[in-house]
Amino acid sequence: MSEVVTTERVGAVALIALDNPPVNAASHALRNGIQDAIATLDADPEVKVIAIYGKGRTFIAGADIREFGKPPKEPHLPNLCTQIENCATPVISILHGTTLGGGLEVAQATHARIGITGVKVGLPEVLIGIMPGAGGTQRTPRLTGVPAALDMITSGRHVPTEEAHKIGLLDQVVDLEPRAAALSAAQDVLDGKLETRRTGQIAVTPDEAAITEWRTRMAAKHPNLISPLKCVDGVAAATLPIAEGMAEERRLFTDCMDSPQRAGLIHAFFAERAVAKIPEATATSRDIASIGVIGGGTMGSGIATAALMAGLPVALIERDQQAMDKTAATITGNLDGAVKRGKMTAATRDTILADRLTLATDFATLNTADLIIEAVFEEMEIKKEIFARLDTIAKPGAILASNTSFLDIDEIAAGTSRPADVLGLHFFSPAHIMRLLEVVVGAQTDPGVVATGFALAKKLRKVGVRAEVCDGFIGNRILAHYRKVADYLVMDGASPWEVDSALEDFGFAMGPFAVSDLAGLDIGWATRKRLAATKPPEERDVVIADRICENGWFGRKTGKGYYVHDGRDSSPNPVVDQIVEAERKAAGITPRDFTDDEIVNRYMTAMISEAARVIEDGIALRPIDVDAVYLFGYGFPRFRGGPLFYADQIGAATLVERIHTYAEEDAHYWQVPDILHQMARNGTAFADLNKES
Ligand code: 3HC
Ligand code: NAI
Repeated sequence: MSEVVTTERVGAVALIALDNPPVNAASHALRNGIQDAIATLDADPEVKVIAIYGKGRTFIAGADIREFGKPPKEPHLPNLCTQIENCATPVISILHGTTLGGGLEVAQATHARIGITGVKVGLPEVLIGIMPGAGGTQRTPRLTGVPAALDMITSGRHVPTEEAHKIGLLDQVVDLEPRAAALSAAQDVLDGKLETRRTGQIAVTPDEAAITEWRTRMAAKHPNLISPLKCVDGVAAATLPIAEGMAEERRLFTDCMDSPQRAGLIHAFFAERAVAKIPEATATSRDIASIGVIGGGTMGSGIATAALMAGLPVALIERDQQAMDKTAATITGNLDGAVKRGKMTAATRDTILADRLTLATDFATLNTADLIIEAVFEEMEIKKEIFARLDTIAKPGAILASNTSFLDIDEIAAGTSRPADVLGLHFFSPAHIMRLLEVVVGAQTDPGVVATGFALAKKLRKVGVRAEVCDGFIGNRILAHYRKVADYLVMDGASPWEVDSALEDFGFAMGPFAVSDLAGLDIGWATRKRLAATKPPEERDVVIADRICENGWFGRKTGKGYYVHDGRDSSPNPVVDQIVEAERKAAGITPRDFTDDEIVNRYMTAMISEAARVIEDGIALRPIDVDAVYLFGYGFPRFRGGPLFYADQIGAATLVERIHTYAEEDAHYWQVPDILHQMARNGTAFADLNKES
């Protein structure tokens, strides 16, 4: 018997135990082990019932995703499911933890399913660009009916125990350890108290209306994705006899597997986990039982909300009563939103506001906080002054963090007597919703402080990514570079809406000009004024945004910007056309046409170039860290895996060629990063750098 699958006999009952940590993924070894165990036990006349359960934290959490993209090895999961379903001896399964994907499919092929209280079941394949491929689209509708199956399979959501019982996925729910539950349920089968049946033999009631409705919904909701529609097609085939339905499912599943979207989405899945692998992972983190926040504006109130929602008490300092009132209203509004979205109860919100939030103007209120996050205006002098005050107030061992977007953490830390306790914790707006947290490590930051930053990210259910100090860290440094290309494209002939639409078709939720209107054009205007003196003379001048601002148009908040905004609707601002035309004329530019591909290629090549420099300079640990920053903080299309995963799909040689071509027009902006040159020469890729660490 294999190491991951063991069997045990207790009278007429045979137990199959699965032990493939951490999540009992259905790897080749596990599939092989189950196949052998079922074959052996089914042939044994003394075995009257077989029960499969998982050791560790879960029953099978799905196929082993790491095997995808490699040549598949027998036994294949669908065949194993068929073998289990056809087994003459009754087979039951005991589900605990997160029984997902191929794990739920194995369970559906057994003849009865016992849920252990707390188990969550689901078919999350759609989230990684595929669909259930081991009978999930065929057996789920047989157990739950078509609408419930469509809901589960197209959303990938985890269904809680009670609901799973109610919709027919579980036959019993018990509150026992998995092995004890297996023995008890097997005895119920022997005693005739638990009925067993073959799922494949249950007839599906056809529901054409639901199929049509879900097809329309998926096409509208996921215009760029292929797997949600394939999921619906799979369920539609469930009215066929099981073997024919399984064959159709396999055909659809293979289409998904062969799609580049599958590779991109799986890269995104691993990116979320890879970023936790940091050099400081083994350092002892400090306990964080309370948080201080300074500044209750856009970011401070969002950070406070995130901490409160994670159960942490928060003391927030503002400048005066008026500002405190505004902060209190924002936090209350954020929590109301969480109640509306079903993330918390109204009673929890009330407790949080009454017991866990303190608003004050006196810095001394922070003298017991374990971690203090500064989120005041983006000015070095103000930040330095705040950190000097914190140095005198914060208790020994307290961590002092800045939420700065661009500023030098080492310079901020140098103003304190405890630079080892200082780091950057860069949240993204809205901070209680966006998942990214850049953990910015200064030259003197203590490893334990870094580890605490990552522990905090986890507690806040965010994705922490390690960044070193530079202007803008990982995300904003790259953004500051490639955003210019959107302006250059407009100067040279594209309209802002052409640029936006090309990038939205590529998969971004919003194009760069729509984002500018949302964020407020005044912010960029102020930054440009501040940095005007430091701008290199060779850099192209684009003043279109300044001209728009001079009209008092700052985007959505003033009703006009690049677009005219009317409630949720927006249309191109015709005056912007005139401004653009005048600016082109003044610069002596004859406008030319750009295809969508040309727009996307220039924009993405600029993004990749600066991302490559971020790797070269050691600001990010690995290319996959840059991908995570863009996926979780900048709305990068998940199915494309992140900028550097996407770069590998294009290839370094092509990227170098593109940059050389663009440089003929603007040699200052378009320069080939050394690392890209090397990759083009050696035939290597960013993925190779992910493997090295
Ligand atoms: N295959 C391979 N490795 C997996 C895996 C899987 N299906 N699921 C999780 N892992 C790995 C993770 O990468 C991580 O590895 P690391 O420690 O080296 O980083 C480790 O297991 C623990 O995972 P998490 O950190 O995510 O642990 P959590 O407790 O937070 O979450 C989970 C557990 C809910 C199971 C979550 O890991 C998850 O959602 N996994 C994916 C489940 C999934 O998508 N299943 C369907 C697979 S596709 C399929 O079954 C196809 C079939 O229809 C044919
Ligand atoms: P904001 O202007 O909305 O809020 C700043 C708040 O700080 C104001 O409410 C102000 O009253 C308060 N404040 C100023 N000086 C203070 C003092 N001495 N004591 C107490 N409170 C004081 O600014 P925002 O947007 O929240 O930005 C804050 C910081 O977060 C900046 O460093 C910014 O760069 C950074 N950041 C901003 C993001 C954004 O999208 N707005 C995203 C990520 C970081």
